Parts: sequence; structure tokens; C-alpha cells
Amino acid sequence: MSFPYQIQSFDHYLTEYKKSIDHPEKFWGEVAEHFVWKKKWDKVLEWNFKEPRVRWFEGAKLNITENCLDRHLADKADQPAIIWEPNDPTLPNRILNYRDLHGEVCRFVEVLKNNGVKKGDRVCIYMPMVPELAIAVLSCARMGAIHSVVFGGFSAQSIADRIEDAQCRIVITADGGNRGPKDIPLKATIDEALTKTSRIQKVIVFKHLGNTVNMQAGRDVWWQDEAKKITSTDSRAESMDAEDILFILYTSGSTGKPKGVVHTCAGYMIYTTYTFVNVFQYKPGDIYFCTADVGWITGHSYTIYGPLSAGATTVMFEGIPTYPDAGRFWNIIDKYGVNIFYTAPTAIRSLMGFGTDPLKDKKLESLRVLGTVGEPINVEAWHWYDEHIGRGRCPIVDTWWQTETAGIMISNLAGISQGKPSYATLPLPGVIPLLVDEKGLPVAGSDAGKDGVFHPGAKGEPVSGNLCIRFPWPSIIRTTYGDHERCRLNYFATYPDLYFTGDGAFRDAEGNYRITGRVDDVLNVSGHRIGTAEVENAINMYPDVVESAVVGYPHDIKGQGIYAYVILQSGHANQGGEKEGVSKMVNKVIGAIAKPDKIQFVSGLPKTRSGKIMRRILRKIAEGEMDNLGDISTLTDPGVVEEIKAGRL
Ligand code: PRX
Repeated sequence: MSFPYQIQSFDHYLTEYKKSIDHPEKFWGEVAEHFVWKKKWDKVLEWNFKEPRVRWFEGAKLNITENCLDRHLADKADQPAIIWEPNDPTLPNRILNYRDLHGEVCRFVEVLKNNGVKKGDRVCIYMPMVPELAIAVLSCARMGAIHSVVFGGFSAQSIADRIEDAQCRIVITADGGNRGPKDIPLKATIDEALTKTSRIQKVIVFKHLGNTVNMQAGRDVWWQDEAKKITSTDSRAESMDAEDILFILYTSGSTGKPKGVVHTCAGYMIYTTYTFVNVFQYKPGDIYFCTADVGWITGHSYTIYGPLSAGATTVMFEGIPTYPDAGRFWNIIDKYGVNIFYTAPTAIRSLMGFGTDPLKDKKLESLRVLGTVGEPINVEAWHWYDEHIGRGRCPIVDTWWQTETAGIMISNLAGISQGKPSYATLPLPGVIPLLVDEKGLPVAGSDAGKDGVFHPGAKGEPVSGNLCIRFPWPSIIRTTYGDHERCRLNYFATYPDLYFTGDGAFRDAEGNYRITGRVDDVLNVSGHRIGTAEVENAINMYPDVVESAVVGYPHDIKGQGIYAYVILQSGHANQGGEKEGVSKMVNKVIGAIAKPDKIQFVSGLPKTRSGKIMRRILRKIAEGEMDNLGDISTLTDPGVVEEIKAGRL
């Protein structure tokens, strides 16, 4: 058996789960034995959720890239590590085997060092989905620099904010990228970002499109030119402490600017690999395709680190599902014989809209496992995925997790535990979910066992509550970069001694969890997390705006759409292109993903006497539930509600 920790049956899952709860240190210590260490740990776990302080595998030394690359050279040097499929299907693809990838990473480490990067430095990466993105990420990890990948759709302002927050000194980018019919001018956006921050000393630019870009002498260098200079490489990987930072990844919360979620080397490596192997039931030789961009946590954990650590072949796709036509994913699956396919419900819903014509000439015979992530999958989309893509013979794993968890927390295991449409189902070993009420008390029936844990396989009352996790798993968020208090307040202060996810959930009588969505002011638009406060801040930067309130509403394709109520100084009509103005401002401050779907100009917002905006009412109106607004008598100006209702878009 290639992975001694791979779960073999449902009974095996139950015993492994129990073991992980009864003896977590023993459990994870045994899993960790199957990885490459420079030095083993002194202690498996030390933790408290008060500060919070969580340390896994203290005293161990390692480099995650030795697990992702070096250890595969003995038996998988010639096996493809990355298959890259370009945006334009008529252009050549690229296949890097493990030997190639190892060589490229060792070479790029030298490039980074030549350009002044040192262990512990933060490196901002703003790249298209090309193999060099993976090479850049792995090279940082190999030399002990901390990567902070910024999704290619974010604006110059967002990049500058992230560079400032993480105090990056170097940027790795490309001249541009392709997304469907569009060219994305990545380098031009970086140039603009760098007018807003003076921290960056070097920009390494990968020539991808071959278009003309501005290169600032002394600051900007071409990746290819720098790589040519390297005549020999030091193939040794830096020795990292288990709890050294591996990366920072920014994500939206309910307040303020996005925060830099910090993950560390050892726990992240163990948990992403463990969950990759178990959830997807990966078998050596499988071709695995995760459609997520590396700019998001899914791309970090399940396009790069998890699969490579397990020695898999991972497909990296530069384009979008609808280019050149809506059969693109299915072509890629047939072209490479993909066995495991992992995507987002929003992609499934948008492809459903094209009907089954794009599927007519597709075989899809290689598929064995399907997965979804990022948002709740509605029952209709689940059945379409099952019937038309899985042809009724592939388990669908509905994987619930978050940037902060870094790895899959609640999911069925392919072919091992039963899926249920719209349910993420059961917790992974090591994960103890707890549903609590507003006061933080476990909801009735929540704690089934004597040990206070609702064990998978147990029966109980169906219950709903706020989803918390009671015990640390190896890849739990360690801090928010530069602001530990913010991490405590956001995740560990709502309910004492619990990690609060921000999600609501329902648990059925069999113990299956169904995630019902965020209970805070965070939206999930096409599987992307967006804070309402962030969008409001951006809208408020438009000169004519007095105040705004942003809420989510159900959207057929995106899951949630963004509905903005905006008060203009000049009145509440769209007289001179204010709608476009507001929309452009959001695009400029955050990026196209946060542009409101609907903008309603209003003369006032429903507020309580203490001045708090009643979002509940605005949400209901946006959702179209106008007759059921609840008590509005405590509002300062109940009349405004009628006006908003009448003007609803
Ligand atoms: O609300 C949950 C939703 O996405 C949030 C996490 O977003 P992010 O950190 O961007 O990570 C997305 C990729 C892991 C969660 O709080 N979410 C994620 N997966 C699911 C989900 N909601 C329901 N079902 C899922 N499978």
C-alpha cells in the first residue's frame, strides 16, 4: 500500500476517526512518520485557543519541497508532476515531470537569491496559471521565503495593500496572462500598484505572452534572462522549523481590509497530503485536475502542495471553462485521461446553462471521482454533475473548508462514505465540529458521546447552529500576519475555547453536516469570499457617495450576488452615469470579482436609533421577501423602507 494512512472502508474511517479524537498526538504522529524530515519532532502538539497558540511537531526540521519533489525522484522522476494546459487549445501544452520540476525549482531558488531574497522575506506572487507560478511558489518554500500569492483578478490597490501589510520586498509576475478571450495585463497592474507602495526593490517578470511591457531599469528583470545566468544550482533545501511560516494568503472578513492568514510548514504539509489522499482516494498514477486558481487556498493546497506531496500528476489549466466553448473542461478530461476532477459549484451551474450539447462527443470514461468546493452545492447542480459528468458512477465529494483551515475539514470520502446532495457530510479524522447557539452553548443533542463529541456513525436529533471546531487540526490558522489580536478576535473570541468558522450548519439525524452559509457579513460570490464592509469602503470612495450598504442575494450562477444600496449627495437618481462610476470604483479598489450586480440609489438607509444599519431588512428586500420584514418600528425612519421596497431592482 502506497499510503499507509489511506482509509480503506467506512469501518476503517470510524476507527481512524475515534483514534484521532482519543489520541490525537499518537494519530498525527503516526501519519507524520510517512513524510521526509530533516529532524523529527520533540512534541506533536501544544495548544490553547485562548491566545491562540497552536504548535504542531515542535522541534522538527523539514522542507516541504523535499516531500513534494526530492522524495519522488527515486521512483517518479519521469512521471509528469504538472501537466499544463494553455488557455488557447491550439497552442502546445507543457508537461514537467518530477525531475524537470525539481530542476526548475532549484534553478529559480538561485534566481531569487541572486535578486536579494533571503530566508524569511515575503515575496508577492501575481501570476497567471502557468507552471512558473508553481515553480515560484515552490522555490520560495525551498529557500524559506514566505510567499504571498495574489489572485490575478485583484486590482492594483489590492496588490499594494497586500504588499504593504506583508512588507514584501519582491514581486514575481508575468508580462500578462490569458483568461478566455481576454489578455490580462499583469505587469501593467503591478506597475500601477508600485506607484502606491515603495517597498518593492525587485520585480521578476516571466515572459508569457510576449507583449510589450514597461521594464524599469534597476528594478525589473526578466525571469528568463535571470534563469539563463544560473550555471549551477545548490540542490539543498533550506532547513525549516515546523512552525516557520510557509505562506500568507489574504482573505476577506466581516470587518476591515482582507487579513493575511498565516500557515506554517509541517502541519500544513501533513494535513493537505492526508486529506488529498483520503478524500479523493488518490491512487498512484491517477491524473488529477483541480480547476482552482493558485491565487486561492484551493489552488495552494489541492493544485500544488497536496497532490505533489502525494506524488500525483496535477493538471494546471490557464483558461476558463467556457473558452473556446463550454466543453473545455470535458475536453481536458478526455485529453489527459483525468481520473479525479475537482471544481466549484458555480462552474457547474454556469456549464449547466449550456445544456448537454457540449457533452455530446465527450467520453469522460477516465473519471473516477468528482469533487466540489467553495460554496454550498445546490441539489439540482449536484444531480447534473452526477448524471452528466460522473455518468452516475463517480462519487461526488462535497468538501467544506476555508482559507483558515487550509485543508478539507468536512467531506465524504470517495467511495468510502456516502455522499448526500448538498451535504458536506462527515468530519475528517482529527476534526471535531460543534454546533452552538448564539450564546456559545452546544445546541440540543449536539454532544452525543460521553466524551462530548458527536461521533460519525452516531444517531441524534437534527439540529442547526453556528459551526465551531473544538480541537486543533494540523493546518489550523496560526495567526493573521502582523496582527495576532485580530486573529484571536475573529476566530477565537466569539465562543471561548472554540474556533468559530463564520458558517452556519445543519446536522441531520445521521450526523451529516450541511453548510447553510455564512452567518457573518461575508458574501460568497462564485465561491469567492468578499466582505460587505470591503465593498462598502470601495463604493464610498466614489466622490458623490454619502453612504452605502451591501448585502448578498441568491444568484442562479454565482450562488450569491452583490446588492448595493447607495445614497448619493446629488439625489437618488442615476443622472450622470453614477452607476458605472460606482461600479468602476469597486473594480479599481478591489477588482472585477467584487463589482455589485445591482446598485439601487436610495435617499436613506434603515437604521436603529443607535445608528446601526439594519442589514436584515436590506437583505430581505434584496432577496425579494418583502412581506416578511419583521419589526421595523425601532427604526429612526420607517418610511425609508417603503421607498427602498418600491425601488427594488
Ligand atoms: O462559507 C463556506 C464556504 O466558503 C467559505 C470559505 O471560503 P474560502 O476561505 O475562500 O475558501 C474556499 C475554498 C475552501 C466557508 O466559510 N464553503 C467552502 N466550501 C464549502 C462552503 N460552503 C458549503 N459547502 C462547501 N463545500
